[in-house]
Amino acid sequence: MAEQDDILALEHLGKTFRVGFWGTKVQAVRDVSLVLKRGESLGYLGPNGSGKTTSIKCILSLIQPTVGKIRLFGADPSNAAARARVGYLPEAPYFYDYLTPREVLDYVGKLYGLDGSTRKKRIPMLLDRLGLSHAMDRELRGFSKGMLQRVGIAQSLLSDPDLLIYDEPLSGLDPIGRKEVRELMAELRREGKSLFFSSHVLTDIETLCDAVCILDRGEVVAQGRLSDLLRMDKLESEALVELPLDTLETAKARLLALPGVELTEELGPVLRLRLPTDVVPGLTAAVVDARATLRELSQHRDSLEELFVQKAVHMVSSDGQRAPKAGSPE
Ligand SMILES: Nc1ncnc2c1ncn2[C@@H]1O[C@H](COP(=O)(O)OP(=O)(O)O)[C@@H](O)[C@H]1O
Ligand SMILES: [Mg+2]
Repeated sequence: MAEQDDILALEHLGKTFRVGFWGTKVQAVRDVSLVLKRGESLGYLGPNGSGKTTSIKCILSLIQPTVGKIRLFGADPSNAAARARVGYLPEAPYFYDYLTPREVLDYVGKLYGLDGSTRKKRIPMLLDRLGLSHAMDRELRGFSKGMLQRVGIAQSLLSDPDLLIYDEPLSGLDPIGRKEVRELMAELRREGKSLFFSSHVLTDIETLCDAVCILDRGEVVAQGRLSDLLRMDKLESEALVELPLDTLETAKARLLALPGVELTEELGPVLRLRLPTDVVPGLTAAVVDARATLRELSQHRDSLEELFVQKAVHMVSSDGQRAPKAGSPE
């Protein structure tokens, strides 16, 4: 079943909470299936309340799924050996104000069962790597959110884990902190660590993940390799063409007759056109034929943000019912 290289696999994961006096059901996660392979990075995306933290808690065996199965390094997530290979950064890491980074890491190191000499060696090394060596022995109460996040990341790396599970690692950080954490994650990935991280900040993570799984209200609305998902929606180009004044109307008619070409703006003899990228060679040929000038040509690629809006928001109507299949936004 599970392959050797599968670091993490969710099979039809579902979690229902019962809340309140009447035990009303809240379906936090519904039928999520995914696989994370060794060395890959998976972005688990979705707006607040879409079930990201709940899924992560199930993966870490902090709560039990209602339905479905989880394999962590091929084992049940409650397996101690499997869990020991995971470094976890919680959503809002909380550390006791009066501890220093060195003390926090020493404590966590003891929990992981690292011996004294390993801790002595690894802790300053990690704190140095995270740019905290100057603050190693300062109490955490004066730390910025970005610095605290780095302490959290340091503790997640202490046992030299193979899989990092980070819950919203970029949230609450200022732009510089964001960039730092992002770069650090990219570096960890280059070192061969597998990454599973959640985010509701979409544009931040495009460069960080090989694959994404987009959730909305506990359900997967899009998933796959990022490159495939971004290609799935048609790739479009934009062209700015200047027509010769003497044959303006015929030249215009000729360009607009090309398949999929759409006129988006017209400023005298200058036309702004949107077209499917595979029509670009046809357009350039027609431009030459019509003695027109191609002033600009650019690729219009669907950003992750647009993809998210199309899939996650438009596919789910306000009553929570799934709209007709993807591919036809609006
Ligand atoms: N312990 C709990 N009891 C009841 N409902 C919960 C509990 N934890 C989460 N939920 C609900 O499950 C849904 C998903 O929450 P969560 O997993 O925290 O989302 P996210 O991390 O994507 O913001 C929300 O509607 C939330 O209110
Ligand atoms: Mg959360």
